[in-house]
Amino acid sequence: LRASIEAAIAEAADPRALDAVRVAALGKSGEVTALLKGLGALPPEERKARGAQVNVLKGEIERALENRRVTLEAFALDARLAAERMDVSLPPRPFAPTGPEAGSIHPISRTMEELIALFGAMGFAVAEGPDIEGDWHNFSALNIPEHHPARQDHDTFYLTAPPSAEGGAGRRPVLRTHTSPVQIRTMLTQEPPIRVIVPGRTWRADHDATHSPMFHQVEGLVIGRDIHMGHLKGTLIDFLRAFFGIADLPVRFRSSYFPFTEPSMEVDIGWSRKTGELGQGGDWLEILGSGMVHPKVLANCGLDPRVWQGFAFGMGIERITMLKHGIPDLRPFYEADLRWLRHYATSP
Ligand code: PHE
Repeated sequence: LRASIEAAIAEAADPRALDAVRVAALGKSGEVTALLKGLGALPPEERKARGAQVNVLKGEIERALENRRVTLEAFALDARLAAERMDVSLPPRPFAPTGPEAGSIHPISRTMEELIALFGAMGFAVAEGPDIEGDWHNFSALNIPEHHPARQDHDTFYLTAPPSAEGGAGRRPVLRTHTSPVQIRTMLTQEPPIRVIVPGRTWRADHDATHSPMFHQVEGLVIGRDIHMGHLKGTLIDFLRAFFGIADLPVRFRSSYFPFTEPSMEVDIGWSRKTGELGQGGDWLEILGSGMVHPKVLANCGLDPRVWQGFAFGMGIERITMLKHGIPDLRPFYEADLRWLRHYATSP
């Protein structure tokens, strides 16, 4: 009997079949139950030994049923896992281009990514600095002393925070008016040669169709032993032609003034004032500021100007983005207007 019940248990392919085996053996009219019931008919001297035997059998069958139940459960789990397996190599369904589930890249972020890639290909790393700067980093170390007229040009946001290390020498901290303080931070913390760009937020108290109190700049800084103006010109011409995607974009270097570079140059690109198209057209559009790092700035960062030279440049990210994509107004960059974003933002 034991052999036949154990065979039936082993053959039960699912919980339902197993339950049928249990009922047939241990149920009210089951075979083992019948044996137990039959005990009463035995003579007392046999009953005890026989009863013990049947109880052992019952225990064994219960254990076998339990083992089989656990095995079947494991089978069921394996089967479910196999059925629900997904093929991660299947290509995804394309995102709906304007659906609510489809995120997109803001044009500012897109330009920053392009800048990082283009300059990255020329060997530039990315450097960063804080939005809240000390007076020394934002101005003095860049050769803009107190009472220098350039300070007025910047429409600086001063913070009313108590005098702290950031303000320096009892001065109030500022929201950085340009990314140039990161030139200082980089020269103070990195051994030359240095080749970095600094994309980031900048702040000036100015607001109209072409100015926003918060905007973005990208700074560039190169320091080395024999860096000269040819490097500056080559780097910026290559960059501008690559960024705007115009291989013969006219580029003009025009003498200018910044306290932290000497000589200083503003850079213009060719365009048509009439059509607004970049490239040919005979007109010039100012696009960025640049120059050779001023010896005083090098010295302020502990670099000997007789050993180290370099160049720096800075430009507005909104401005080059507007020019590249023909965006006429600055303000929608910050307004989260979905119609504008759908038009100008790009899919990731
Ligand atoms: N910091 C300057 C500005 O904000 C731009 C600049 C950077 C000019 C580096 C020269 C060199 O206008």
